[in-house]
Amino acid sequence: MLQLVHTADGSKTIFNPEIGETYHSRHGALQEGMHVFLNAGLRHFLADKNKSELGILEVGLGTGLNFLLSANFCLENGLGIDYVGIEAFPLEDALICQTGYGHYVSAKLWEWFIEKYSSSINHSIELGGRCTLKTAHCKLLDFQSEKRFDIVYFDAFSATHQPEIWSDESLAHVCQFLKMSGIFVTYAITGNLKRSLKALGFSIEKVAGAPGKREMLRATKIKCV
Ligand SMILES: C[S@@+](CC[C@H](N)C(=O)[O-])C[C@H]1O[C@@H](n2cnc3c(N)ncnc32)[C@H](O)[C@@H]1O
Repeated sequence: MLQLVHTADGSKTIFNPEIGETYHSRHGALQEGMHVFLNAGLRHFLADKNKSELGILEVGLGTGLNFLLSANFCLENGLGIDYVGIEAFPLEDALICQTGYGHYVSAKLWEWFIEKYSSSINHSIELGGRCTLKTAHCKLLDFQSEKRFDIVYFDAFSATHQPEIWSDESLAHVCQFLKMSGIFVTYAITGNLKRSLKALGFSIEKVAGAPGKREMLRATKIKCV
């Protein structure tokens, strides 16, 4: 039975008792989403580029917090965004509504998301002119797409609780959907993760982590292997 719980910055997350883990950091769900995915991911990627639109692939869409923060940034800055979130266990609309994440994005975006989230399951839907969302209802290894993305947000449960999703096979699978020079970001950093991504043709950066984590990983695809 999934439970809504508060995190230290006042934002909510979901606790999954079966896995024994929350969907976000207990130090702050909002802080983690802003730091790891929006700032170290999306904004870093855009900093030295002149892009008018971009594609993001997330592993573990969950509550949609990372989608909401990214779409809100893009809509505010006149950028198009095509977002695909892989999610093996899509949440009920009612639970998503109770997260209160509408406080962190525009009222219009929240309204669109709440109204259209369930129709995004296995369909690409438009949320306003230049924002599309698709929730790919499958396990990571079953995900297939013709699309190639600029950024991968890897927001799986931890390797302690879900080691298989951090395996070489899973990482190779998701990274095939990333464009050359695209980036992979995640909240964690381990020796195995660095080795796997190096072997897949990535350059690795250690970045200061979100509150509660010293470091996180950002990797750039520099060659096809
Ligand atoms: C740490 S939570 C992600 C939190 C999410 N990004 C959010 O902002 O709410 C991990 C997510 O991965 C999903 N998941 C677990 N195993 C998966 C798999 N094999 N393939 C795809 N998604 C999976 C879970 O259902 C959960 O929603």
